[in-house]
Amino acid sequence: MRIAEALRVSGIAAVDARVLLRFVLGWGDAHLAARPEQFLTEDQQDRYFSLLERRRAGEPVAYLTGEREFFSLGFRVTPAVLIPRPETELLVELALERIGPEARAQVLDLATGSGCVALAIARHRPRTRVTATDCSREALDVAIENARRLDVANVTFKLSDWFSALEGRKFDLIVSNPPYVADGDPHLDQGDVRFEPKRALIGGADGLDCIRHIVVHARRHFPGGGWLFFEHGYDQGARCRRLLARAGFAGILSRADLAGTERVSGGYAVRA
Ligand SMILES: C[S@@+](CC[C@H](N)C(=O)[O-])C[C@H]1O[C@@H](n2cnc3c(N)ncnc32)[C@H](O)[C@@H]1O
Repeated sequence: MRIAEALRVSGIAAVDARVLLRFVLGWGDAHLAARPEQFLTEDQQDRYFSLLERRRAGEPVAYLTGEREFFSLGFRVTPAVLIPRPETELLVELALERIGPEARAQVLDLATGSGCVALAIARHRPRTRVTATDCSREALDVAIENARRLDVANVTFKLSDWFSALEGRKFDLIVSNPPYVADGDPHLDQGDVRFEPKRALIGGADGLDCIRHIVVHARRHFPGGGWLFFEHGYDQGARCRRLLARAGFAGILSRADLAGTERVSGGYAVRA
């Protein structure tokens, strides 16, 4: 079978079929576009059709290829970690805006998953020391592998239930993309999300359990003052700002994604 036909008969979204075929062939997009008449070998055809079948059954493309791009860096992903989302890049942008290129800041990424946020910050701020935590050993193993593959040495990984293993640690900036979907939310039964780890997604009855915990406990890790930024659901911005205000944060703000939806909120904890 030729490449053009393999793409035509995929039975899945064209963009996904191209990613899967590129993955099987080990080619870039331009290479694929330039050779529509080339024949697939029998082995390539078998592997491609088996991936198509799994995609038709709903498996996310990122789990099928084991990779996803985030902040222009390639990350390895497995079903042990959330698939990095474009909107989470806002967290990295907010962090980089507050840490100068030469700053020797101490940064904490709570709930690091694949390590995408921690590693993107560390890569762009090589003098900064980043601590990245998660309560999942399997997720941390993926994050550690990503640090090795991206050759990032200024991140330390730690198994921790939120702040439990961070007693006495001080930070200049804390970022987190915690679980924030409400238990029972119908989105949990739709699309790629069905295949992602539940403990990466669900944040209690109203989705805000983890965020409440982070907002309340972050302050004692900022004795010299510092910024906290976290991602939240599309309709949680106002509630998050109220939580931050109640916990005494100043300079409270929310940032929207390109579609105008508030995705990240945060504030400054003044010097204790
Ligand atoms: C939404 S995912 C975020 C992963 C990654 N930071 C990203 O943006 O792609 C949330 C992460 O929180 C972790 N998590 C859930 N409960 C936790 C807890 N009690 N303490 C630490 N991490 C937790 C999950 O294992 C998961 O990796």
